[in-house]
Amino acid sequence: MKIGIIGCGTIANSAHMPSYANNEKAEMKWFCDLIIEKAQAAKEKFGNENSRVTTNYMDVLNDPEVQAVSVCTPNYVHNEISIAAMKAGKDVLCEKPAARTYAEALEMKKVQNETGRILNIGVVNRFNDNVNAIKKYIDQGKLGEVFHVYVSFRAHRSIPGLGGAFTTKAIAGGGALIDWGVHYLDIVMYCCGDPKPLTVSGEAFCRLGKDMKNYVYRKMWAENTKNLNGTYDVDDSVTGMIRTEGPVITFNGAWAQNIGESETYIDFMGDKGGIRLQYGSTFKVYTTENGALVEYVPEVKTRDHFQNEIDAFIDCVEKREKLPSHIDTVIITAQIMQAIYDSAEKHGEIKL
Ligand SMILES: NC(=O)c1ccc[n+]([C@@H]2O[C@H](COP(=O)([O-])OP(=O)(O)OC[C@H]3O[C@@H](n4cnc5c(N)ncnc54)[C@H](O)[C@@H]3O)[C@@H](O)[C@H]2O)c1
Repeated sequence: MKIGIIGCGTIANSAHMPSYANNEKAEMKWFCDLIIEKAQAAKEKFGNENSRVTTNYMDVLNDPEVQAVSVCTPNYVHNEISIAAMKAGKDVLCEKPAARTYAEALEMKKVQNETGRILNIGVVNRFNDNVNAIKKYIDQGKLGEVFHVYVSFRAHRSIPGLGGAFTTKAIAGGGALIDWGVHYLDIVMYCCGDPKPLTVSGEAFCRLGKDMKNYVYRKMWAENTKNLNGTYDVDDSVTGMIRTEGPVITFNGAWAQNIGESETYIDFMGDKGGIRLQYGSTFKVYTTENGALVEYVPEVKTRDHFQNEIDAFIDCVEKREKLPSHIDTVIITAQIMQAIYDSAEKHGEIKL
C-alpha cells in the first residue's frame, strides 16, 4: 500500500514513519514538507528507490498510486490538507487535534461523510494497551458506576517553543488544552464509552509565559522553534468541568504552573472501585475484596501505541472498517474543547 507523508517534522520522524517502515504492507512513496531538506532526509531514512519528495502536497494527492496519507503538519493546515486528500480519493490519518476549531473539524467530518473516505485522527491513546485494559475494567463493571473522572495534565514551567507555532492561536488553535488536554479528554471519553456531553464550564489563562523575554523555565520542548519576538496568545493553563450523560469530568491542565511538580494522571472514580492512570504509563486499581481495601497494578503486556495505531490504520484502509479514532467519534472532543474555550471567553456555562 503506497503511503504519502505530509509534514516531515517531529511526530512524523518519531512515530509515523518508523511505524510504517515496520509494517510489511506499507510503502512510503511520497515525503512532503515545505522545507525540502526535511522531505529529503526522511526519504533517505525511510524511503526506497521509488520514493519521491516534494514541497507541494498536491503532488502526493495527484498520484493515483497513493492510497492513504498521514497528515503530520501543524494544526492550522489539518483541515485544508485532510479535506483535499479525501476529495482526491485518499484515506487519511490526521494528527491530533482534528483541527483548530470545532467548525473546522465539523467541515472535515462533513467531507468524510460525503466522500466515504476514511478519516482517522491521531488520538493514539485509543491504541494504548494500558488504556484499553482500563476500558475493559470499566466495561465489565469492575468499578461499578463511574460517576466522576478527574484529569490532571499539569507541568511545572514548561511551554513548548515559546513565541513560535505552539503559542500562536492562529496556527495552533489554542495552548495547553488543545495540545495536551485533547489526549487526556480523549482517553476519558474513550474509556467511558464516548458519553454525550451536556454542559461545559471552563476558564483558560494566558499568564506565565506572557513576558517571554523574562520567562524562567525548567525545560521546554520544541525549543528550536522558539521566537521571543513572536506571539503568545494561547492558554498556558486551564480548568473546568464537563457534565455528560455518563460521568462528570473535572480537569486542571497547565503547560506552566508555579507548583514545582508535574502531575499527569487521570482518576476514574466509580462506586465499587477506582483507577489512577499515570499518563503514558501504568495504572493502579483501588477496590475492596472480602471487606478489605486492596490496590494493585496490573501488568499489561504493551506494544508501542504508535505502531498499534499505524497497523490498525493500514488494516482499516484495506478492510474498510471503522476504528475508534474515526472522526465521527473524535468530533465530540473537538466540540468539548471548543465549548471550554467559549465558556472561558464568556465566563459562563455552555449548554451543548
Ligand atoms: N500524537 C501525538 O502524541 C503528537 C505528538 C506531537 C505532535 N503531534 C501533532 O502533530 C502535528 C505536527 O507536530 P510536530 O511536533 O511534528 O511539528 P513540527 O513542526 O516538528 O513538524 C511539522 C512539519 O510540517 C511541515 N509543514 C507545515 N506546513 C506544511 C504544508 N502545508 N505542507 C507540507 N508540510 C508542511 C513543517 O515544515 C514541519 O516540518 C501537530 O498537529 C501536533 O499537534 C501529535
